[in-house]
Amino acid sequence: RRQRRDRLLALLERTAAYYVRVLWESPEAEEARAYLQSRGLEEGALRAFRVGYAPDTWDRVVLGSRKAGYGEGELVAAGLASRSSRGTLIDRFRGRITFPLADERGRVLGFGARAMKPDDKPKYLNTSESELFHKGRIVYGADLARAAAAKAGRVVLVEGYTDVIALHQAGVPEVVAQMGTALTDAQVDAIARLAPKALFCQDPDRAGQESVAKGIAALRTHNKGRSTRAVEFRIVRLPLGEDPADVVQKAGAERMRELLEKAIPIERFEVERALEQPDSSTDDMLSAIKPIIASMSATLLRDELVRLVADRFAMRPELVNQLLQAPDTRQ
Ligand code: UTP
Ligand code: MN
Ligand code: MN
Ligand code: MN
Ligand code: MN
Repeated sequence: RRQRRDRLLALLERTAAYYVRVLWESPEAEEARAYLQSRGLEEGALRAFRVGYAPDTWDRVVLGSRKAGYGEGELVAAGLASRSSRGTLIDRFRGRITFPLADERGRVLGFGARAMKPDDKPKYLNTSESELFHKGRIVYGADLARAAAAKAGRVVLVEGYTDVIALHQAGVPEVVAQMGTALTDAQVDAIARLAPKALFCQDPDRAGQESVAKGIAALRTHNKGRSTRAVEFRIVRLPLGEDPADVVQKAGAERMRELLEKAIPIERFEVERALEQPDSSTDDMLSAIKPIIASMSATLLRDELVRLVADRFAMRPELVNQLLQAPDTRQ
């Protein structure tokens, strides 16, 4: 059992190293290198994350691994190959840029692999769930972020692989990704182990904002748990249509770091969001805001938020305070 697991880990490790070699040394990866360069990602950061390239052939990994003594069953169990309809074994990752997905100790458990052309679907092909690989238990980049997060006392949470690498390169090495999906409890716990503070920096699109809302809920639940380390979290607002990797590439590292420093408290994020609902009446907005303000103690932030609401409706802050304290009479 133990031995089987160790063999699968070794197979994944050598495959990660193989993809890295192909990326930097093989003529067949020329397009991949050009693509990464066009994304503004630099060799140093790409090497730190062991980004590689899976050649566009049917069975290069299968053949190499067989030669090194691995069995077909092991290749399938490691998520590196699958059986074709004709019964032959074929590589899972072909003609894609590979991002090793490692556990907190840096052991490769699987891969995310990006297509280079927009019409190649899916954009990212990941290792499927298996005895070894559970995407929901991995926080991308946790192994590399650990020391920096401890030192900075915070961790920045982004959505994607390229966001992590771009931020790392931009002088923010305390960065990890939840990899697109909703934040799982296991991921929240892993984040709590990295630092007592987290900055949410999801994509400023609908999916990203939904993910922020779910992440807030997950972290609040975590913080209520008595035996767990509480995580204080803030929200980073990004320019519309630009994820962290886009900001670093277009506006630069300095600008990205400024945006991180401007992160806002959750309550402010929630009040702003309520005020931004396009077809919401004043009453709707006020009743959405009420529970947020009601849960806050009398702080500067609370006053600031009341003023924000007052400005938005051109009312006096005293009146807003009254309205927010009045019982909700709507159905
Ligand atoms: P995004 O769609 O925001 O991609 O998904 P991205 O990270 O910005 O990637 P680029 O910049 O287009 O290269 C965020 C994350 O969600 C996961 C990946 O982890 C991705 O980094 N994802 C996304 C998948 O697993 N599969 C997909 O098809 C898409
Ligand atoms: Mn996204
Ligand atoms: Mn927890
Ligand atoms: Mn992106
Ligand atoms: Mn993105």
